[in-house]
Amino acid sequence: MSGQKPGEEACTPGLDLTAFWSVTYGLYVVTTKAGEKKNGCLVNTFIQTASEPCAVCISLSKKNLTHDLVMGSGRFAAQVLEKETPLRFLGTWGFRTGRDTDKFEGVEHREGATGCPVVLEHTLASFEVEVTEKVDCGTHTLFLGRTVKAEKLKPGEPLTYAYYHEVKGGRTGRNAPGYLASRAHDRDIERSHEMKKYVCAVCGYTYDPEKGDPDNGVDAGTPFEKLPDDWVCPVCGAGKDQFESEG
Ligand SMILES: Cc1cc2nc3c(=O)[nH]c(=O)nc-3n(C[C@H](O)[C@H](O)[C@H](O)COP(=O)(O)O)c2cc1C
Repeated sequence: MSGQKPGEEACTPGLDLTAFWSVTYGLYVVTTKAGEKKNGCLVNTFIQTASEPCAVCISLSKKNLTHDLVMGSGRFAAQVLEKETPLRFLGTWGFRTGRDTDKFEGVEHREGATGCPVVLEHTLASFEVEVTEKVDCGTHTLFLGRTVKAEKLKPGEPLTYAYYHEVKGGRTGRNAPGYLASRAHDRDIERSHEMKKYVCAVCGYTYDPEKGDPDNGVDAGTPFEKLPDDWVCPVCGAGKDQFESEG
């Protein structure tokens, strides 16, 4: 017996997944258009890989619709998000799937040079990329590409993965490469503090009474039970009845 609790993933001995929390990332909306279908998702895995040619890469989960569409289209656009990007916007791109949602509805965007949609809201800069190589990495595919257009859309400070977690209280998507590390981290916190947190069954956001939901007028120290009945998940908009007590 491993002593593993239900819902806990097996850990490989020697791999402290929370070590990955010291790796720094930004957050990006990656979009594409294959045939008539346009879609996109939130990623933390966009990096520049070479200067000449100007090359970049992204890592996409094989479970994401965006993965299949980039496979088909051979191109993508990556938008650098600003620090002030609201959780709700991040939740749409990071927790909903284009299989049943049009993520572009009500979101300002335009067709880019490659035909990929360029999201204009909360975007500091945009890169359009032609895929040159695909590397099978197991759960994810690494898409390497050549940048065909790079443009700055507005000045501002980019949103980092650390700020998203620590200040905004955002969660890691199940299909993000860092998901297992984030689960391990959450379990450590649970063990060291006896706090009654509630988790959104739709997107995984955790309501932490110690932090409250200041963006939506809920003070730190407000127990979940005292939240107004019309309070909704700040990430995905699910109602209070979609929340389950943690632990
Ligand atoms: C903070 C955060 C980071 C994420 N990073 C990645 C990533 O690097 N690669 C990836 O494939 N998915 C990542 N995801 C998960 C996708 O955004 C998510 O699965 C999305 O719902 C997929 O949408 P789609 O099915 O429309 O493509 C991340 C999610 C969050 C919340």
